[in-house]
Amino acid sequence: MFTDHLQPVALSELPLLFNLGGTSLVSAAFEGKEDVMPATWVCPLNYDPARVTACVDSCHYTRPLIEKSGMFALALPTAAIVNEVMYLGHVSENDEPAKLEKSGAKFFKMPGYDMPFVEGCAAYAVFRVLPEPHIEKTYDLFIGEAVALWADRRVFRDGAWRFEEVPESMRTLHYVAGGRFHVIGRGFDVHQSR
Ligand SMILES: Cc1cc2nc3c(=O)[nH]c(=O)nc-3n(C[C@H](O)[C@H](O)[C@H](O)COP(=O)(O)O)c2cc1C
Repeated sequence: MFTDHLQPVALSELPLLFNLGGTSLVSAAFEGKEDVMPATWVCPLNYDPARVTACVDSCHYTRPLIEKSGMFALALPTAAIVNEVMYLGHVSENDEPAKLEKSGAKFFKMPGYDMPFVEGCAAYAVFRVLPEPHIEKTYDLFIGEAVALWADRRVFRDGAWRFEEVPESMRTLHYVAGGRFHVIGRGFDVHQSR
């Protein structure tokens, strides 16, 4: 029986099981200070207007940059920059002011947006924060409304991901925990007949 394969799992392992979405990089800047950190706890919230939630802990340097500027960017890093992602996620700018330079990542700016964008991502988006002080303070959760969105046309075009057409280095990263990532796998289509 199928249910013979099921075993109870500690509730603390819920994020490992239900968060296989692509890991994001969160960027923010305020008055000349800027930072980037990976965040796996990022989730779409609405189609139109396009909104997301992003969980950014209060101890991170990136957090006050988001709160003060009212803006943040998300990017979807690929396997090619997994080492840079790990550095950005294990070093805080609170401890290492030269974090960005030492990360090995290459940065660029998108016209009109003064935030550090990391080269080697499959997609980029900029959001303005929809202020929700209670959920920000209580759950470290920010709601962002998209104001701009870009994707690498080699990997995403005409409304579809093209992961089958690119090498593994251009595929998105899916973080579990403890340094364990998956790259996105094979896509397939299911045609619903009724
Ligand atoms: C792959 C990965 C995913 C992470 N996801 C999150 C997350 O969803 N939310 C969060 O607050 N921290 C997350 N972190 C931890 C921060 O990225 C990390 O503490 C970072 O160093 C904070 O940098 P900062 O203090 O310079 O802002 C993650 C770390 C890694 C390596």
